[in-house]
Amino acid sequence: MKKYINQIFPHFLHGGDYNPEQWMDAKEVWDDDMRLMKEANCNEMTLGVFAWSTLEPEEGKFDFSVLDEMIEKIGNNGGKVILSTPTSAAPRWLTKKYPEVIRVLEDGKKSPILFGSSRARFCFTSPKFREKVAVIDKELAIRYANNPTVIAWHLNNEVWGACFCENCKKEFRHFLKTKYQTIDHLNKTYWAKWSSGEISSFDDIEPPQEESQYGGLYLDWKRFTNQSIRSFLAFEASIIKSINPESIVTTNLMPQRDVDLFGLVPVLDFASVDIYPYWGYHKDIQEAVSADWQYDYIRSLKQKPFMLMESAPGLVSWMQYNKLHRPGIDTLAGISAVAHGSDSVCYFQFRKSRGACEQYHGAIVDHVGTSNTRVFREIQKTGEILKQIDEICGTEIKSEVAIFYDIESRWALEDAWAFRFHDNGYLEENINYYKTLWDRSISVDFVNADSDFSKYKLLILPMQYLVTAKLKRKLIEYVENGGVLYATYLLGYANENGLTYLGGFPCEELKELFGIWNEEIDTLLNEDVQKIIYQGKEYQAKDFCEIIHLQGAESLATYGSDFYRNQPCFTVHNYGKGRVYYQAFRDDGIFKQTAIDTILNELGINGCLIGKRENGVTARERTDGKNRYLLIQNYSDKQVDGICLDCLYQDLLTNETVKTVSLSPFGFAVLKKSGIT
Ligand code: GLA
Ligand code: ZN
Repeated sequence: MKKYINQIFPHFLHGGDYNPEQWMDAKEVWDDDMRLMKEANCNEMTLGVFAWSTLEPEEGKFDFSVLDEMIEKIGNNGGKVILSTPTSAAPRWLTKKYPEVIRVLEDGKKSPILFGSSRARFCFTSPKFREKVAVIDKELAIRYANNPTVIAWHLNNEVWGACFCENCKKEFRHFLKTKYQTIDHLNKTYWAKWSSGEISSFDDIEPPQEESQYGGLYLDWKRFTNQSIRSFLAFEASIIKSINPESIVTTNLMPQRDVDLFGLVPVLDFASVDIYPYWGYHKDIQEAVSADWQYDYIRSLKQKPFMLMESAPGLVSWMQYNKLHRPGIDTLAGISAVAHGSDSVCYFQFRKSRGACEQYHGAIVDHVGTSNTRVFREIQKTGEILKQIDEICGTEIKSEVAIFYDIESRWALEDAWAFRFHDNGYLEENINYYKTLWDRSISVDFVNADSDFSKYKLLILPMQYLVTAKLKRKLIEYVENGGVLYATYLLGYANENGLTYLGGFPCEELKELFGIWNEEIDTLLNEDVQKIIYQGKEYQAKDFCEIIHLQGAESLATYGSDFYRNQPCFTVHNYGKGRVYYQAFRDDGIFKQTAIDTILNELGINGCLIGKRENGVTARERTDGKNRYLLIQNYSDKQVDGICLDCLYQDLLTNETVKTVSLSPFGFAVLKKSGIT
């Protein structure tokens, strides 16, 4: 069974953001672009992103000539369009007449408006802004929601951030009032007696500044701002769908920002992602791991293929040093996206703009205006490959391992006045655990408390600081029924309001589940390490060491230095039909590799490749239930020979039958095995 992001056009999308409105005075460029689009093997253009001032040059006066003409040209060219609502960049007439739509910064000042553009500087709750958004979105939907060339809608752009305007504050107070009913309830939940901090009325509440006195207030503010973003996108989606209920909507998400994406995606028909790795900074393997973490997370949100909406052809322009992507890396990165469940490889942008601050950002078509560039040829090649492997589009990925990614624990830890004081590295550690699976070519899903854990043999729970009653119950059930749970330090300290659990950590029945009691946590200096003794060998802990006591669990490793030397630091406990591991310290990457390896072996979880592991080489499998597709990537700058496969495969790019594979530096292979064994 295939799950397409879009049934109307069940093919890999290859294309990107295109802004023909920037070339209205040189329309010959439009025709060149249609030719170049075909030459680059592109079949998709995303139009309209940030184009509000062209589409509605004056309040209530519309000009859709660019879109009319372009959509037709692209359609005639055999391409499809993803049409963006232009609402991320309000035109100057709007911000001038209705300044209340402009986002307010934490210090109470309005976001600076550079010349005209208010790009990404609008308020998510402003009724006036929504009124104006509704007008332009409705006009667009009336005109294009039934156009066969338009296959999906892209809402706004890279939604993120918070606004501190009076309206947002009012809405926040309303949100709190609805949640707590009485100010007394709120004060108790926030533990407001600390330093005489009681609030006397909901009307006095201010959003927390950079750091907050009350952990509960910080969490509520994050929840509120995320709810505002979600409701804004839902509002835009409802306008498009009010004209054509069959319209498909998405938006380009940024997985590593502190946005609650699990909460946001129900508003979308499929998830899309923008990924801009720092290629060429001597750490390509780490960048690949981080990019793949994002793909797997995005795929997990909807449990189906997603769209890579933006990536940079050749280079970006917003770094201090804008490195050229070395030959091959963009094609490899595109294949990686597909390997992790993307049904597109798209870029920002099709043609480089001539002026303004993105004029030197990478694009498929450079200022020279021809196809005779290194970057163009590489994109062309990617497009050719996507055509050759199109049968993979819509196939799924099955994972036996899941990693818990909990945005609320991340928020709480970034606000915590404790441990490493706001610098607790929740995201980084999540990626570190992911890397242990990446190195082994083992597919991973990301889950949160609403997910079904039962389909996973192994669930990894890094730094799960906030534990709700629901999560506690689900973890216990999972293990009782045979699941294997691997949790780490900082587990179960606080409830959903940021209030510490009394009675010892991890909270409540988790002590019985894990068979331990965690009495203290030591935060190490950056330059300090703590020895770990595991299976007779020495490993290293850094940053965090908890002092735990066995209450039924068995110790598998002990600390090797400092006053807590010889105390347990890694435990296992059998519970119900399953078992739980607890790693009481942060390691430097090596310990977790070893410990998780043993568990994977015990559980019979094998990666997609057999034989020796090669640094920087990883593989993923997609399947439609009948065929298996194996995509192998080499992110090292070395040739790798003799990569062993579990059976004979057909190489989809050369049509040869293979049992082993050799990959050039930054090379890849796309293989097929017909019939599932
Ligand atoms: C973001 C935006 C794009 C473009 C790129 C440049 O991802 O969505 O419009 O500005 O950055 O890297
Ligand atoms: Zn606001």
